[in-house]
Amino acid sequence: MKTQIGKDINKASQILKSGNIVAIPTETVYGLASNALDPIAVEKIFLAKNRPFFNPLIIHTDSIEKISNFVLEIPEKAKIILENLSPGPITVVLKKANNIPDIVTGGHDSVAIRIPNHPLTLELLSQLDFPLAAPSANPFGFISPTKAEHVYEQLNGKLEYILDGGKCTVGVESTIISFTEETPLVLRFGGISIEKIESLIGKVNINTSSDKPIVPGQLKSHYAPTHKLVFGNIDELLKNYSDYSKVGLLSFDKYYSEVPKENQILLSETSNIDEAAQNLFDSLRKLDKINLDIILAQVFPDVEIGKAINDRLTRASS
Ligand code: TXA
Ligand code: MG
Repeated sequence: MKTQIGKDINKASQILKSGNIVAIPTETVYGLASNALDPIAVEKIFLAKNRPFFNPLIIHTDSIEKISNFVLEIPEKAKIILENLSPGPITVVLKKANNIPDIVTGGHDSVAIRIPNHPLTLELLSQLDFPLAAPSANPFGFISPTKAEHVYEQLNGKLEYILDGGKCTVGVESTIISFTEETPLVLRFGGISIEKIESLIGKVNINTSSDKPIVPGQLKSHYAPTHKLVFGNIDELLKNYSDYSKVGLLSFDKYYSEVPKENQILLSETSNIDEAAQNLFDSLRKLDKINLDIILAQVFPDVEIGKAINDRLTRASS
C-alpha cells in the first residue's frame, strides 16, 4: 500500500467511512484513527501499530453532547473538567455505554474519551457520524509522532492516508484522568497540568506508576529511542565519560562546552517549558539519527507540563 500525506479532509473521511485507518493530527501527537464503533476497523489499528490487544484506546469526538452517547453518565467533576478544558489535551475515563466495543476498552467497563483541539480533526469529526478510536500513530513502544513526516517514517505502507495538520502544538500526550471512583485519579501526566486540574475540582489522586500498568503510557519502558538514553543531571553524568564525540545531549536551555555542538539539542532557548514539551519527541528523533553511543537527557523542573516531560524521559530511559 502506498501512503499519501495531504490536507484533504474529504479523503480522510471517505477512508474512515469505508472502515479503514487514517493518521490524524491533534494538538498533542498524531493519532492512528478508525471508526470506534466498528470492531474490525479498530482491529486494524492494533495490527498496524503492533499493539497488544489488552491495551485500551482513547476515543475522540467533537462535543460534550456526543460524549454522553458513549458513557453511562458524566459525573459532576468530569463535567467541570470537560467544560473548562475541552477541546484540549485532557482525556476522561468514564463508565462506558453498551455501544462501545470491547476491543476499544480492552474489555474494561470504562472508556477513555477526549475532544482534541485541532481545526482539521475537529472538522473531520463533525463530518462523521461515529467517534474515532486513536492511539498515538507510532509502532508500539516507540517515540510518539508530532509531525506528519514522523508518522510516514514509521508507518509508511501500513495505511493509505496521513492527514497533515502541521507540527503538534502541545507535543506530549493528553493528561488522563479517571472518574470511575469517588476521588478522581490521574493515570498519565500530559498536556494539562495537575495544578490546573486541582484548581478546578480540588484534590485528585495520582497513579502514573508502572507497577501495575492500567494504560500503556504507564508501562515502564515506552517512548523509547534506539540509542540508550540516560536521564539525570547532565553535569554529573558527563563525569562518567572521557570521550565526548559520541555523547548526545538533550537539555532544557543551555549548551555544554565539552560536547560537540552538533550532538546537542536545546528544547527551549528561552527556558519556556511549554516550548520544551512541543520540541521533545521531535528532538529525540533527531538525536536518534546521529551516530551516538548514548543520549544524556536533563531532568526538567517538575512543575506544570515539566511533569509530563520527566515522565516520558524516565520511560524512554528504561
Ligand atoms: O494525546 C493523546 O491522548 C493521544 C492523541 C492521539 O489523542 N493518544 C494517545 O493514545 O496517547 P495512546 O493509545 O498512546 O494512549 C492512550 C491511553 C492508553 O495508555 C490507554 O491504555 C488509556 O489511554 N486508556 C484507554 N482506555 C482506558 C480505560 N478504560 N481506562 C484507563 N485507561 C485507558
Ligand atoms: Mg502512545
